[in-house]
Amino acid sequence: MALDTLDISVLAAIVVALIVFFTKGSLWGTSNSGNSTTVSSSGSRDLIEVLNENNKKALVIYGSQTGTAEDYAHKYAKEFQARFGIPTMCIDMSDFDYDNLPEVFDQVSGFKLITFFMATYGEGEPTDNAVDFFECVDNELTDLNGLKFSCFGLGNSTYEFYNAMGKRLTQTLLEKNATMVGELGLGDDGAGSMDEDYLAWKDGLFDLLKDSLNLEEKEVSYEPSLKVTEVSDLTIEDKQVALGEPNAKYTLRAC
Ligand SMILES: Cc1cc2nc3c(=O)[nH]c(=O)nc-3n(C[C@H](O)[C@H](O)[C@H](O)COP(=O)(O)O)c2cc1C
Repeated sequence: MALDTLDISVLAAIVVALIVFFTKGSLWGTSNSGNSTTVSSSGSRDLIEVLNENNKKALVIYGSQTGTAEDYAHKYAKEFQARFGIPTMCIDMSDFDYDNLPEVFDQVSGFKLITFFMATYGEGEPTDNAVDFFECVDNELTDLNGLKFSCFGLGNSTYEFYNAMGKRLTQTLLEKNATMVGELGLGDDGAGSMDEDYLAWKDGLFDLLKDSLNLEEKEVSYEPSLKVTEVSDLTIEDKQVALGEPNAKYTLRAC
């Protein structure tokens, strides 16, 4: 059965839709480097090893129970990377070990900053994915001299222990000689002002970073990381031509 132009257009649309679905749009974006801020899991829990393997120079870590802190962390990481041109890795707090946290700035050449997004749960308690991090920082790490961090807490002011985890993290790191860049951001679900709180904190921090870390702001431009090339000598019968059927070539990135 011969395929007409309409059939081919429909099949092409299906192929594009499949690529979009399986890559979740990660093939294009506004990042300057073209790299995603999310690192595909190599299985290693060694922070320094993974930062070096992926050539990342900044870290965004989130403690999140139901995804709000995670969403803000990813949004922030993308903007940080795009505006300052610094390859940035955004991670779930429970995906790594932190015993070598004090060495990150020494052992990752050109490393700039760690930014935390910390939600509070229970009665002023850590999210499930933050429990082991606090255990490690509280009991195993003594000196964080040289570590530079910023922090945005997510909480609800109707709770007694408002934003307890952002406050606890900040206090603990400062007590262990880390240096805080900017102010602790306090996002308030209770007042319905999370977005405004985040934007005010982020804009203030980005202004400050230019001076305190000597970061240069870049013009954010759209740079697609997917290039479409027309191969005119291929026909629909060629084996290399996919017609929308499931194909490992499309699905590889999603695995
Ligand atoms: C069961 C529960 C307990 C919470 N406890 C606190 C709390 O003690 N202090 C606080 O400031 N916010 C508290 N919150 C508010 C959350 O921290 C806030 O909604 C945050 O945005 C959730 O972020 P996440 O979606 O990343 O987990 C609580 C929310 C829930 C649902």
